[in-house]
Amino acid sequence: MVVHRRAYSAAQIYVHWAGAALVMALFATAWIREGIEDAALRRLLLDWHRLVGLVLMALSAIRLGLRLARPAPPPVPGMPAWQHALAGLVHGGLYALLFLQPLSGWLLASARGRALDLFGWLPLPVLIAKSAERAEWLGLAHAFLSWALLALVGLHAGAAIGHALILKDGTLNRMRPRGRGFPASSPVTES
Ligand code: HEM
Ligand code: HEM
Repeated sequence: MVVHRRAYSAAQIYVHWAGAALVMALFATAWIREGIEDAALRRLLLDWHRLVGLVLMALSAIRLGLRLARPAPPPVPGMPAWQHALAGLVHGGLYALLFLQPLSGWLLASARGRALDLFGWLPLPVLIAKSAERAEWLGLAHAFLSWALLALVGLHAGAAIGHALILKDGTLNRMRPRGRGFPASSPVTES
């Protein structure tokens, strides 16, 4: 018997919102840093940016594992097929960027000759040899990917808010922490 559920699991929901908060922190550290002249503060913000990016990458791996273990709930009743397909494409793009963006940052740090570690106790491998030329195009790739991520997040969050405020079809409830809306584990279809 297969039991389909209406919402994501509690773990998926908490990891989703933790990931969203980390992405915001990454843009904040990168953008605030650009307006700062003090070299020590710039270095500190970049260290935090790198650390948060690596934590996001680890969290995204856990998230992907959770998602592979438990598929997404079926679309809300009445959702047109094109909307479901478009949401799937955007979610796929977001998953890809949640790995590609930190990976490009890690490669960029390696090309600049910076060895990374997690919280000072877990040294991470240097991915490529130091090279000013590579660092330049990796910097461009990292910036380009960040704009692509921002565009997809804007589209995704805009759609979620549109579903909640205009269509009022319960899509946002699927990603809301338990205790509000319907219980996430209640089965809707059985076969
Ligand atoms: C989702 C994850 C990440 C996001 C959204 C992100 C975003 C950004 C943004 C918007 C910039 C400024 C780009 C520009 O316009 O020049 C930047 C710069 C940078 N990021 Fe990331 N980043 C992420 C992960 C990482 C990681 C994991 C690392 C390294 C381990 C990293 C290392 C860097 C470096 C070295 C810079 C260049 C700073 C400079 O201008 O010298 N980033 N990042
Ligand atoms: C950096 C920010 C965000 C990222 C990277 C992100 C990423 C994702 C991904 C990858 C999924 C698909 C989950 C899966 O099937 O495993 C998802 C689902 C979802 N997200 Fe986000 N999200 C972000 C921000 C937001 C915001 C701000 C909202 C609400 C305003 C939101 C609402 C939702 C909803 C309602 C779903 C479930 C959609 C459905 O089942 O059709 N997300 N998100």
